[in-house]
Amino acid sequence: MPQITCIVLAAGKGTRMRSALPKVLHAVAGRPMVLHAIDGARSLSPNHIAVVVGAGGDHVRQVLAKASPDVTVHDQAEQLGTAHAVLAARPVLEQAGAGDILVLYGDTPLIRTQTLRRLVAARRDAGAAVAVLGFRPADPGAYGRLKLDEDGQLAAIVEVKDATPEERAIGLCNSGVMCLDAARALDFLDQIGNDNAKGEYYLTDAVAIARANGETAVVVEATDADEVLGVNARSELAEAEAVLQARLRRQAMDEGATLVAPETVFLSADTRLGRDVIIEPNVIIGPGVTIGDNVSIRGFSHLEGCIIGAGATVGPFARLRPGADLAERAHVGNFVEIKNAILGEGAKVNHLSYIGDADIGARTNIGAGTITCNYDGFGKWRTVIGADAFIGSDSCLVAPVTIGQGAYVATGSVITEDVPADALAIARSRQVDKPGRAAELRNRFRTRSGKT
Ligand code: UD1
Ligand code: CA
Repeated sequence: MPQITCIVLAAGKGTRMRSALPKVLHAVAGRPMVLHAIDGARSLSPNHIAVVVGAGGDHVRQVLAKASPDVTVHDQAEQLGTAHAVLAARPVLEQAGAGDILVLYGDTPLIRTQTLRRLVAARRDAGAAVAVLGFRPADPGAYGRLKLDEDGQLAAIVEVKDATPEERAIGLCNSGVMCLDAARALDFLDQIGNDNAKGEYYLTDAVAIARANGETAVVVEATDADEVLGVNARSELAEAEAVLQARLRRQAMDEGATLVAPETVFLSADTRLGRDVIIEPNVIIGPGVTIGDNVSIRGFSHLEGCIIGAGATVGPFARLRPGADLAERAHVGNFVEIKNAILGEGAKVNHLSYIGDADIGARTNIGAGTITCNYDGFGKWRTVIGADAFIGSDSCLVAPVTIGQGAYVATGSVITEDVPADALAIARSRQVDKPGRAAELRNRFRTRSGKT
């Protein structure tokens, strides 16, 4: 099998984003754009992925070190053009051996695997030095134009600033994604100069140089212009989000989830859904969520970083924060927040509660309004509740605290000490009735107010 080496260009400043955050770190479907580009690269099982960084490079490096530690990162201190950017990864090009160099952009997050595969296959099949992913946008605008010769072969790519009126009239455009024969790439890249309108080293010149060297170049057309959407401004970020959300919703439904009102449900690139999951309207699923079979997520719930076991129900109006781990058939009801807490099989937290830093045993019922008091202003502490326990409504569980299996906590208790298994804990004052005292008070207050 020939090798594939992917180079992701991510050094541009992204001035038009007007952001302190490097452009490629802006997220689409909860994942930084540069990681989408890397995911695309990874789907081809390449031998190597290199990322070229420039503006905000330290921040991009940090994100890559955490999310994608196997990629190598290369600095392009000055952005002198796309060919110059590829050459910033020169050691990688030198080691590439036989096979393909695939160039991707960190700000082009929507390209599908099958399209990349088609591009690589087209280059190999034609024995071409270069294959370019082309497309036909409604408005060719500032895109580079793909010039074909009389045989229909790719002759050159002309940047708009250097184009003649006839060249500008060409509708077939350069997406930027390019596949080069690894054996010849470095030779051609080193021949690229910067004698052009922008004074930049254009990667696109690789085509004319290859042709001048007697090699062939081919175009593969993307069938879907959305795939090659490049994000330069926030409005395009929102466009990319819309395209990806539509895809993710479609995929969720194809894989057996019901989305009652798909356009109101927001998923993340890494959302994992089981079969027969029902998601009601207005649900937001942030990064890191795994949902088992037959789960129902009711309207207006917000989930991130959580695992939901088969047959569980969540919401309406529930919030599951990172570390919420619901076992099978657990119930989380309305106005309940769960953070960094495990709910055992069949455990229920149905109304108006905050459960944070806790372990709740199987089948345990947490009454309405129960709060785990997990924070003392300095540290976070854990509440541990055994199986089959019953926590009365409006209880405060002051952590660290342990409540044994099968224990009862009386309604309205403030629990500061551990409760043994099967014990009843009552931590509130005893009820006192004063016969006739309400009527007496009513008379006194009426007289004092002057009303009769
Ligand atoms: C480039 C192509 C153009 C194509 C368009 C598609 C060239 C010369 N032109 O133009 O034909 O239609 O993309 O969007 O390649 N980058 C670096 N370092 C640099 C320059 C760019 O890392 O020195 C990165 C940018 O961050 C960006 C990508 O390369 O992700 C494209 O650069 P950009 O300057 O946006 O190229 P365009 O002028 O849009
Ligand atoms: Ca661009």
